[in-house]
Parts: sequence; structure tokens; C-alpha cells
Amino acid sequence: MLTSTQELLETASRNIYAIGAFNVYNLEGVKAVVQAAEAASSPSMLQIHPSALKYGGSALMALCLEAADKALVPMSVHLDHSTSSDAIQMGLAGGLRSIMADGSPFPYEKNLEFTRAMTELAHSYGAVVEAEIGRISGTEDGLTIAEKEAKMTDPDQAVEFVHETGVDSLAVTIGNVHGKYQSEPRLDFNRLETIRRRINIPLVLHGASGLPASMISQSIERGVSKFNVNTEVRQAYMQILKTGACNLPDSDLLECMDDVIDAMKQVIMGKFDLFGSTNKA
Ligand code: G3H
Ligand code: 13P
Ligand code: ZN
Ligand code: NA
Repeated sequence: MLTSTQELLETASRNIYAIGAFNVYNLEGVKAVVQAAEAASSPSMLQIHPSALKYGGSALMALCLEAADKALVPMSVHLDHSTSSDAIQMGLAGGLRSIMADGSPFPYEKNLEFTRAMTELAHSYGAVVEAEIGRISGTEDGLTIAEKEAKMTDPDQAVEFVHETGVDSLAVTIGNVHGKYQSEPRLDFNRLETIRRRINIPLVLHGASGLPASMISQSIERGVSKFNVNTEVRQAYMQILKTGACNLPDSDLLECMDDVIDAMKQVIMGKFDLFGSTNKA
């Protein structure tokens, strides 16, 4: 059943588990998340990145909304990493009621201004907003510790930012990265604890692909209630296309689609176990 993101995150936060938000691009991805969530009896989120929105447009939004609505478990549909009001307006017009206004690529003052304006707009539709301060990197190695820390969420700034913008959840940067971790992930849990003590809206951690179980549970204990997962699910899909049944000379389209769904589903169910959301629906 289609459920508000805020309700999913607040319930998770109260009960010390987290919601997995999975980036989807097409019908196979949507089916994988819904089937995994139903099989695990877990609440979950379907998440559309603006690059996916560019590809799938209003059809992809309608597909996600219908799938979430018909699912036997609580689900919401969220617009990921939106750095422009165009993407956000498109999402809201397409019926999405959960968006990320991502001003993190901008200097702090502009991030604040952008996020405040987008929050006002989204709230006028009854939608909730996730925002980010600090700057999550793609895979970048060779940064000094000081350079890495400079990109992390500053707790004082986070308090001011949440107060000034009225956002509903906050993505923090504590050493997490999108895509693969080039070396052993290192998360600044002291920083996370400080932020949690001073901010009482749900906290979000991007870049969950590649994080070991121990770091996920430590993050949940320190107040993270949403993890974003993209890379590992995409990789499972591509793996099947490249080397699985889809690659056999006489492979059939429908069988191939079932196989990619199943491969993504296995990854997603594994994440529900790590996030503690299995059997929480
Ligand atoms: O947060 C990162 C995005 O979900 C990555 O999506 O690989 O389509 O840019 P993309
Ligand atoms: P990963 O690609 O590391 O899973 O990160 C996903 C993400 O943060 C989407 O917003
Ligand atoms: Zn992200
Ligand atoms: Na990652």
C-alpha cells in the first residue's frame, strides 16, 4: 500500500531499523523491489533518479505509484537527487509526494536558499523533502583526510540548515560514497552521533552499496533510518545480462526478464536483512 515516506521513516526510527530505498529504472526494477518487499514482509521505497526520470518520464512515475499502491506491504515512491526545480516540478506533477531537493553541489548559502524554496513548493503539494548538506563524493581516492572531512556534514551547519529550511529528513555525509568504495569504507560515527543528538528528523545515508553489515548496524543505532541503494542492484542486473541465462544463444526474452528480476530481488532481500526491516511490514 502506498504510504507516506515520513510514516515509513518515523516508524523505522522508533523501532530501530531502517528503510531501504532502491533506485529503479524500468518495470523489471520495480517488480524486483515489490516482490522482494512482499517476500520479506518489509516496508520499502522505490526511488527514481532524475536520470531515470529523463528516460522513463511520467510513465515510470505512474508505474511506481501503481506498484506501490498494489503492494501488500507499505511502500513509498521518492524522487532522488534533484538539483533543479524542473525535476522537482515534474515529480510533483507526476504525483510523487517524496522528493530529495539536492542543493549539496552548491555553496552552502545557495543550498539553503534552493532547499528552502523547494521545501515550500513540495509542502504546498503535501509532499515531504529530503535534503543534504556536506558533499557526498563519487568514488574518489587520493583525497587527504582534511579534504575528506571538509566535505562531511558539519553538525552546527546541519542544525541551522534544518531549522531554516523546514526539511523533513536529512542526508548526512560521514565518509559514505556513491558507487564502489575504492578502499575499506570509513564512516565518522562520532560525527553521526553528534548530528543525531542535535537533530530530530530522520537521517538518511546515501551510497549504501558496499557498506559492510557492521557499519550498517552502527549507523542504524546512531539514528539512520533510510539507506539508498543503487549500484549493487544495477550490478546484479548487468551480471545476468552479461553472463547469465540472458547471454545463452537460445535465451528467451521473458525468461531473461524473470532472471534479472530474481537477481535484483536476491540483493534487495539481503539488504532488508541488514537494515532490520524484514518482517516489519
Ligand atoms: O545517487 C546516485 C544515483 O542514484 C546514481 O544514478 O548512476 O543513474 O547517475 P546514475
Ligand atoms: P550506491 O550507488 O552506492 O548504492 O548509492 C545509491 C544512492 O545513494 C542513490 O541516491
Ligand atoms: Zn545518493
Ligand atoms: Na556505495
